[in-house]
Order: sequence, then C-alpha cells, then structure tokens
Amino acid sequence: MAGLRRDRDELRAETLTDRAPAVERQHALGKRTARERLDLLLDPGSFMEIGMFRRRSEGPDEPAGPRTDGVVTGSGTVDGRTVFVYSQDFTLSGGSLGAAHAAKIHKVMDLALANGAPLIGLNDSGGARIQEGVLALDGYGGIFRRQVRASGVIPQISVVLGPCAGGAAYSPALADVTFMVRGTAQMYLTGPDVVEAVSGRRVTHAELGGAEVHGARSGVATFVHDDEEGCLDDVRYLLSLLPSNYLEPPPAAAARSAAADVRPRLAELVPVEPNRPYDMRTVIAEIADDGEFMEFHEDWAGNVICALARIDGEVVGLVGNQPMVLAGVLDAAASQKAARFVRFCDAFGVPLVTLVDVPGFLPGVDQEHAGVIRHGAKLLHAYCEATVPRIQVILRKAYGGAYIVMDSRSIGADLSLAWPTNEIAVMGAEAAVNVVHRRELAAAADPGALRGVLMTRYAERLTHPYFAAEHGLVDDVIDPADTRAALARGLAALRGKREIAEPRKHANIPL
Ligand code: HXC
Repeated sequence: MAGLRRDRDELRAETLTDRAPAVERQHALGKRTARERLDLLLDPGSFMEIGMFRRRSEGPDEPAGPRTDGVVTGSGTVDGRTVFVYSQDFTLSGGSLGAAHAAKIHKVMDLALANGAPLIGLNDSGGARIQEGVLALDGYGGIFRRQVRASGVIPQISVVLGPCAGGAAYSPALADVTFMVRGTAQMYLTGPDVVEAVSGRRVTHAELGGAEVHGARSGVATFVHDDEEGCLDDVRYLLSLLPSNYLEPPPAAAARSAAADVRPRLAELVPVEPNRPYDMRTVIAEIADDGEFMEFHEDWAGNVICALARIDGEVVGLVGNQPMVLAGVLDAAASQKAARFVRFCDAFGVPLVTLVDVPGFLPGVDQEHAGVIRHGAKLLHAYCEATVPRIQVILRKAYGGAYIVMDSRSIGADLSLAWPTNEIAVMGAEAAVNVVHRRELAAAADPGALRGVLMTRYAERLTHPYFAAEHGLVDDVIDPADTRAALARGLAALRGKREIAEPRKHANIPL
C-alpha cells in the first residue's frame, strides 16, 4: 500500500506541476493559469477535482496524451453554495478541445444539471484540437446540446479569459451571461487571417473580437472587465443574486424596512419637463438597497438599462429607459437587450420592475431595415410570457407602442404605478393634433393659434396624469418619494404569485 500511495502522490504532483515556460508566458500576458483562476473563483479549499487523471488515448501503439487533457473540471462552492466548473488550461496544447477534454466538460455539465447547481465555464482555448478532427467537433456538439438542455434550468455563466475561436464561441453565446477581460479575451468565428483572405481587410484579434467589440458593439459580452481578479470577483457577485436553479427562489438578503423608506431625492432627480434628460441610473440607485445594482451590457444599447438589484432584500430585475442616451427611445438593439434580460429574469424567478420614460420607438429607414419590428416584437413576446411578479412604474412620458411594450397593464403587468408627471398617449399633443385636425388647420386663418388651442384640449382630455388611473390602466398615482416604499410593498404582495404556462411544445418567439 505504501508504494501505491507514493505512486499516486507522484502522479498527482506531476500533473499539478506547472509547465514553466508556458506558465510564464501566460503570466506575462496578464493571464492566470486554469487552477489559479479556480482559486480566485471558488471558496478557499472547496474545489473537488473530477477527472484529473483523464488523458487522451491514441491506440495501443501511440503514447497517451498528458493528464487533465488541458481542462481542469470539478465542483466547489461560492459563498457556500455548490457550483460546477471547468477551466481550460492554455498552457497545455493551447487549451484546445479534443475528445477527452470534451468528455470531462460533459461530465460536469451533466452533474450540474442533475444537481440543480450553476455551471461556470472559464474559456481559454485555441478551439477544436486540430489533430483530433471530427472527434473534437463532436465534443463541441455535446457541449452545445447540454447547454441548451440546461437553459432556463440552471444558471450558466461563461467567462472568456483568452482566445475563444471558431464554433467554440457558441458556448459563451449560449450561456445566460458572458464575461470578458479587456486585452486578453477574444471571440470570433473566423480569425484575422481568414478575414484578410476573404475580404482583404487586415484586422487585429482585438479589433475583430476583443472585449470592447463584444461589450459595446455585438452585444455578445454581458460584462467586460479590466483584469481577471475583478472579473472573477464579479462572477461571485452575480451568483449571489441568482438561485441555483429555476425551482429555487433567488437568495434573499435581510429586509431593510424599505416599505417605510421615503426618498425625497427621487422627486428632484427627474425634471418635470418631458424632454429634459437625466440619468436613470441615479433613480435606480435611489430605489435599490444600498444604492447597489449590477448593470448588464453597460456599454451596449445604452438607451435601455437592465440591472439586477435588491429591494428590501429581494432580488429584482430592473428594466429602465435611459433619457440620457437617444432620449431613451427603444430601437432594435435596446429591444434585443431588454428582451433577453426579461427572459433571463423570468427563467430564474426574478421579479421584474420596469421604469418607463419613453418617447417611442426610434423612427428611421435604418431601424426599419434593421428589423426593429422583429426585435420590438421580441421584447413584447418576452414580457407577455413572463410569469414572475411584474411592476411597471411610469415616471414621465410613455407613448404609443413603446408604452405597451414597456410592461403595460395590457400585456400583463401585475401592478402599474405612475408618478404625477406621467403622460401616456398614442403620441405627443402636437403630432396628434396635426393628424386629427389636418383639414381644419389647413383651412384656418391662424393655424398656429388653432393648433395651440387644440393641443391644450388634447392634453386636458387625454394626457392628464389621472386619465390612465381613471380607466384602470394605472393602479395608483404615487408620490415619487414613495417609489422605493411602493415597490417594496408591491413586491411583498406579489411574492406568492404562481402562474402555470399554457401546455404546448414551446412558444415561437420572433428571433
Ligand atoms: C491544436 C493548438 C490549437 C488547436 C493552439 N494550439 N490552437 N493545438 N489545436 N486548435 C497549440 C499550438 O500549437 C501551441 O502548441 C499552443 O497551443 C499555443 O498556441 P500558440 O499559437 O503558440 O499561442 P498564441 O500565439 O497565443 O496563439 C493562440 C491562438 C493560435 C490565436 C489561439 O494558437 C491559433 O490561432 N490557434 C488556432 C485557432 C483555430 O483556428 N482553432 C480552430 C477553430 S475552429 P505548442 O505545442 O507549440 O505549445 C473550431 C471549430 C469548433 O474551433 C467547432 C465547434 C462547432
């Protein structure tokens, strides 16, 4: 036994020994090794490795590949809660994925799903291991199929910490949330060489698929960080806001007596004039516990804000128009961003709070041609099918289709609250008068004076702050200072909401 134990210890030590030059190169690039990353992500001492001795076998006459096969897999805890993880090891064959490497990932994915625990993938890989041909491609297919099976069942978090090339990029794209690190992370389907061969255009790895590109332009990255430490710390923070699976409620923190929390500053943050901009983030900070919120896609489609926060200890998903960017209009990108966020919250039982101040959808040839109808329909679909508690707060204006889409009563909000500054209408007074009274205005001796009279009449009849409440489309007109308190009370009242979706195969969201 003593000899066997010694052999086993030696094998483990050999496997755990870093390959010096490759590790130095990794560190020189500002990257950690696969195991160092797990140390940062998981609670100290909690990692249980699964499959350390796994290696590639290449037939009886071929030498077997190195142990681990370029990926460290297992389970651990984050703040005491179980997660399953894989961490690709770029120092071993560039973290490339072959059959054994893939099988190890499949194993932790299966365990994560069976145990209802989040799956976190740390990606740093040259992609499909070229020498293994179709076996590598088959391995990727197995990952994608498992991701889709687990979608909406357990949270899936993908962290891109190095190259993620070719079809491998579909794994982060299929995850619920994707993190990237500036300077070192890249994702693209075809690399710079192929792009140059096909298009004649020379681009760098970063220009093609760096963190800035995916954080601000493509919308593939949900969060972008300057370094791996901050990135993995934020993964831990995100997990603190999510349930382990769809059957559990999101983890609640201690209540804060928010139901009696009056915030006079809220009334000062938002100008009464409907077209004057302000930062919706300042409103969110005033509503959320400790002013803390985690904003998704901070640099992409900034005209809508999507964030997780807590109100009275309970996790909520906030969707808010941002008057600072494009006057807060909805466009194709904002609709996609908000739709995905709404579905994410709904899948994991996170109640939705929608803060409305929207002039409408962005008009224009570019938007129409970009499919704003299809993307807007996506957001509509996402809200309509959401069964979590839903509260709409109308801060100022809410016009036309955008009013409906931003979780109006008509599409299923459980509670609709409005500030006394609310103005809800098919369109603004001037545009409305120009359409409805076109002939009278054309025939009038003084069209300007007539327009003014008609606009006042329109506003008095249709857009005064109590019109929607009188017709049951707003449940209460609240003092802005009471917004946090009203939300806390509303969320508490709706905590028991259970709604069973219609039996069918699945809905057909316009993608
Ligand atoms: C086998 C690979 C590899 C791969 C890298 N390596 N990628 N081995 N298969 N796909 C190996 C290298 O040979 C090298 O081995 C080590 O990893 C480090 O790679 P370097 O090139 O020295 O590193 P670097 O200069 O940092 O460049 C990293 C890189 C580059 C940009 C990722 O290696 C690269 O372009 N690799 C190929 C990327 C690619 O085309 N992959 C296939 C994509 S298609 P040694 O022994 O020298 O240390 C795909 C299909 C998936 O993935 C489909 C799923 C549906």
